[in-house]
Amino acid sequence: MKKLSYTLAVGWMAALLCTGCTRQQPVQEISLKEALADKFLIGVAINSTQAAGRDTAATRIIRQHFNSIVAENCMKSEVIHPEEDRYDFTLSDQFVEFGEANDMYIIGHTLIWHSQLSPWFCVDEAGKNVSPEVLTERMRDHIHTIVGRYKGRIKGWDVVNEAIEDDGSYRKSKFYEILGEEFIPMAFRLAQEADPDAELYYNDFSMAHPGKREGVVRLVKQLQERGIRIDAVGMQGHMQLDFPTVEAFEESMLAFAATGVKVMITELDMTVLPSPGQHVGANVEARFGYEKAMNPYPEELPEDVSGLWNDRMDDFFKLFLKHRAIVSRVTLWGVADSDSWRNDWPMEGRTDYPLLFDRNHQPKPVVYQVIYD
Ligand code: G3I
Repeated sequence: MKKLSYTLAVGWMAALLCTGCTRQQPVQEISLKEALADKFLIGVAINSTQAAGRDTAATRIIRQHFNSIVAENCMKSEVIHPEEDRYDFTLSDQFVEFGEANDMYIIGHTLIWHSQLSPWFCVDEAGKNVSPEVLTERMRDHIHTIVGRYKGRIKGWDVVNEAIEDDGSYRKSKFYEILGEEFIPMAFRLAQEADPDAELYYNDFSMAHPGKREGVVRLVKQLQERGIRIDAVGMQGHMQLDFPTVEAFEESMLAFAATGVKVMITELDMTVLPSPGQHVGANVEARFGYEKAMNPYPEELPEDVSGLWNDRMDDFFKLFLKHRAIVSRVTLWGVADSDSWRNDWPMEGRTDYPLLFDRNHQPKPVVYQVIYD
C-alpha cells in the first residue's frame, strides 16, 4: 500500500467522516492487530476499570486493535500482596480473565520493583532492613505464589523493573541494599522455577541513554553467562517530543538484540508537555508542584504540535517495523489520552496527549499510517 503522509491520513479520515459515515465506522473497519499480525504483537496496558469491562469505549478499542495486554497497576506488590500473609488477587484475576476471554497474549507487570512496593516487603516490624535470608524467602514466596497462580495463563513477566540507573550503575533500592546485585539473578531463577514456560523480561525506562544501554547489556550477559534465562529486554519507551532521538533508541535496540534476546517496546507513549526537570525519564518519584505555564494545552492540542507528535510517533513505528525481526512486541502504556499517567506525572492536573487514541476515543492519524503504510 502507498505511503500515507500525516496530511493524507487526516484528509482520508475527514473524507470518511463526511461521506455519511458515522464517527465509529472508520474505527471499526481497521485494526492495528490485523495490520501488524505478521510483524509483532501489539499490546496495551489496561487499568482495572477496563479489565472489569466498565469503560466500554476503551474496551471496544482494546478488543479491536490489540492482541496483548499488560496490567498497568493491579499486579504491583502493594496491590497484589499488601501484607506479608495476605495476597489480594481480586483485580489481577479480573485482568487475566479479560485477556483470556479476548484471546490475548497476557503480560504480568511486575514482580520485583522498588516502587509501589508493599511497605512491609523489605523491613521488619521496627522498620529496619530484614536480613538477606528473610528477603530471599519473601521474594521466593512472592514470585512463586503469583507466577504459580497464573502458570500457563500469563505468557510473559516483567521479572525485574528499573534496577539500573541512567549511568549504568545499580539503583540503590532496598533490594540492592540488602542483597546486592544478586537480587536480579535470584528473581529470574525463582520466576523460571515457578513457570518454566513463561517468558522472562528485564524492563526499564530511558534505555536510549548510553550508560543505561551499557549497564543493561552487561546485566543480560551476566545472566546468560550464569545459565539464567532471560528472553527479552523491555524498553519502556516513555518518549518526549525532543528526547530521545530515533537513532539513539535504535542503537539501544540493536545493542540489546546483539546479546541474543528479543526486544520489546513495553510502555510506549509520548508526552507533548514541557518537562519541569531535564529528561526525568519515568521515575515515578519525581514530583513538581502545579504551574499553569507547564500546562499549555488544557483545552486542545494545536495542529502544529499534533503534527509534530504524529510524525514522530510514526517515525518510531517505522523504526519498530524496520527491526521487526528482533522486536517481538510493542505495547502502548494506556488506551486513550485521558487514561494516561502522563496527565499527572511529574505534575498533577495537566492535560497531555500521549497515546494513539484521543479523548473521544478516536484514532489519531498515525493509527491509519501504521495500518496502511
Ligand atoms: O488506586 C488509588 C486510588 O485508590 C487513590 O484514590 C488515588 C489517589 O492518588 O491513587 C490511586 O492509585 C494511583 C494508581 O496509579 C492507580 O491509578 C497511584 O496514586 C498512582 O501513583 C499510580 O500511578 C501509576 C504509577 O505507575 C505508579 O505505580 C500509574 O498509573 C502507572 O501508569 C505507572 O506505570 C509505571 C510502570 O508501572 C513502570 N514504568 C513507569 C510507568 C509510568 O510511571
